[in-house]
Amino acid sequence: MKTGFGLILACLALAACDPAGRDSEMDAFIDNLMGRMTVEEKIGQLNLPAGGDIVSGQVFETDLAELVSSGRAGGFFNVKGVERITEFQRLAIEKSRLGIPLLVGADVIHGYETVFPIPIALSCSWNPSAIERMARISAVEASADGVNWTFSPMVDICRDARWGRIAEGSGEDPWLGSQMAAAYVRGYQGADMSHDDEIMACVKHFAAYGAPEAGRDYTAADMSRQKLYNCYLPPYRAAIEAGAGSVMTSFNLLDGEHPTASRWLLDGLLRRQWGFDGMVVTDYNSISDMATLGLVEAPEAAAMSLKAGTDMDMVSNAYLNTLGDSYRKGLISMEEIDRACRRILEAKYRLGLFSEPYKYCKPQRAETELYTEEHLEAAREIAAETFVLLKNDGNILPLQKKGKIALIGPLADAGNNMCGMWSQLCVDSRHISLLQAFKEELGNDAELLYARGSNLYYSEKTQQYATGRRSIPRGDDNALLREALRAADEADVIVTALGESCEMSGESASRADITIPDAQRHLLKRLVATGKPVVLLLFTGRPLVLDWESDNVPAILNVWYAGSEAGHAISDAVFGRTNPCGKLTTTFPRAVGQEPLYYNYLQCSRPPWTNEHFVAYNSNYIDVANTPLYPFGYGMSYTTFEYGSPEFSSDRISADEPVKISLTVTNTGNRAGVEIVQLYIHDCLASLARPVKELKNYRRVTLQPGESKMVEFTLTTDELKFYNSNLELVYEPGDFEIMTGPDSGHLTVKLIKGI
Ligand code: NOJ
Repeated sequence: MKTGFGLILACLALAACDPAGRDSEMDAFIDNLMGRMTVEEKIGQLNLPAGGDIVSGQVFETDLAELVSSGRAGGFFNVKGVERITEFQRLAIEKSRLGIPLLVGADVIHGYETVFPIPIALSCSWNPSAIERMARISAVEASADGVNWTFSPMVDICRDARWGRIAEGSGEDPWLGSQMAAAYVRGYQGADMSHDDEIMACVKHFAAYGAPEAGRDYTAADMSRQKLYNCYLPPYRAAIEAGAGSVMTSFNLLDGEHPTASRWLLDGLLRRQWGFDGMVVTDYNSISDMATLGLVEAPEAAAMSLKAGTDMDMVSNAYLNTLGDSYRKGLISMEEIDRACRRILEAKYRLGLFSEPYKYCKPQRAETELYTEEHLEAAREIAAETFVLLKNDGNILPLQKKGKIALIGPLADAGNNMCGMWSQLCVDSRHISLLQAFKEELGNDAELLYARGSNLYYSEKTQQYATGRRSIPRGDDNALLREALRAADEADVIVTALGESCEMSGESASRADITIPDAQRHLLKRLVATGKPVVLLLFTGRPLVLDWESDNVPAILNVWYAGSEAGHAISDAVFGRTNPCGKLTTTFPRAVGQEPLYYNYLQCSRPPWTNEHFVAYNSNYIDVANTPLYPFGYGMSYTTFEYGSPEFSSDRISADEPVKISLTVTNTGNRAGVEIVQLYIHDCLASLARPVKELKNYRRVTLQPGESKMVEFTLTTDELKFYNSNLELVYEPGDFEIMTGPDSGHLTVKLIKGI
């Protein structure tokens, strides 16, 4: 049966189509609705209160219920469960005067109940299809449980491993980050958000939230416009071009301005230059924050934000409490209120909420579509593609299922820690630990010994900060170590599960020391000292400093935080059911003092020679080499690949004549494997100095043992363009180095002429 809005929509279906490409039916519907709204009701639509504190009980007694019933909320976020969400939706439809349905947002970042690897890990698959598949499944599950809007993708470029939110993005590269950003949007929104399992994406955090000073969360970002345009903006734009319905502003300062109130950023760049016509929401409390940041008090902050183009106020209540007065005082206009209100109503219209307000409220879907076998299978498969093999001396990995295997470390039996940050919507207790997965895998084939080995940190307080609500039990340091050494003594091979707990990355989880925490590092040293073969399974949400480990531990497999199926997926890789193929999308430093460290840096006049030793008056450190420990693009396999020399169709490139580059890659080992072949460029002389290397394409090739495949790239002058000092996207003819190879540190270079 059609609701009131459904009937109006049916009548409007005959409306004419607008030649400018606008949906005239939608426009007419919203004109009609807004014509009946009071100023207060319009401002109510601009308010996004948090619902996360309401975890149980009678929702009608809450403030949120009151806001919704009185038409003073356009939506809410982070409430879990279709029944409770339906109750709020019902209040909006049945109790508020105009019955406008609600946006229901949630931080569905890397899965819902089925959790996938954290985004930085996903990006290491270099496989946008895997990301799209993960986002599609996330949308199916979230929508089945009442959510119609996800605060994802987070596409902030990050070059500083100290920042905890490096875990939430796709790494340091603008080109690769753009491919990933678009894939998330396609997955969440599906064809056009018209189906009940398609939800609206929200690109965040606009802009440059990923460049906080000193890698400490929430600090100011400050950079040249050239850097912003060339490096930080491309992924946001890619997500918008993929059709993202909404954008979230960042809540740290950018060049001294608050992005939420920045006219040039929102009205100028986002709307006018990029043509974004969706809605813009603030991040948590942004508008109230402006006073703390030394900018403006709430009434003015709200007025400035509205004028700049921010449509919805998350949490701060500043729009709700001040815009009415500001309007009456003439500080803001009705057009400005209307513009924001219209964009929010348009988002609801595009989601189909007016024709079917309970579109996302189908409890039978929640019963059958969450945490299904099929979704778990996808999580396991995708996780396998995200692991990065950093080292494998003597082919220790994969392990054979025989003899005595000791599994040691505080993360070995921590099922509650498998999912990583932003997985609060899942059920932790469902996830098996690595120990359980190893038991399943080994059965009676090998003897499994287990010891926790150490605390996470020696300091109880630091461990508490590091684990938050996902605690890891503590024990006596000496007793834990003794037990581990006993197990190690008996074993033929030692597998360690060490690193960061899952809450040590993510929001507000910055670190100044990015080594493996003290107690675990000591344990590892003692285990290596036994002389037995040791494998390090590294759990982390960021690049860590692994200087000692890379010199002394024979095998290191970075498993990040792999999600619901982490246990199985890691065990698959350790025992050779799968073959790691991930490559780093973020540089691993030798020392924290090198940060920010990234591959696409600008050259300096005292070039960073790759000398073993310090050279005076060169750009280098007295105590640490300049090179990374593991460069961007790096990752090994259980097999080996050989690269033939690249062939170029021409040594000249022009707008009319792209260059074709081809090279043969051969699997020279004895297992099937996937290799990620990379293409970089360097613009040798330009009006603005260009990075020493820039990724421009890659191919993923699957090769059977002994098999060779020809890999081809077509390079056009579009890939050679950059934003110049006038912020124009230009191609400047001249010499270009074209580089191919397995990672940014091992490339074959050829010079071509751009004409
Ligand atoms: C703050 C975070 O910065 C943002 O990413 C998130 O979506 C909101 N809180 C809502 O939880």
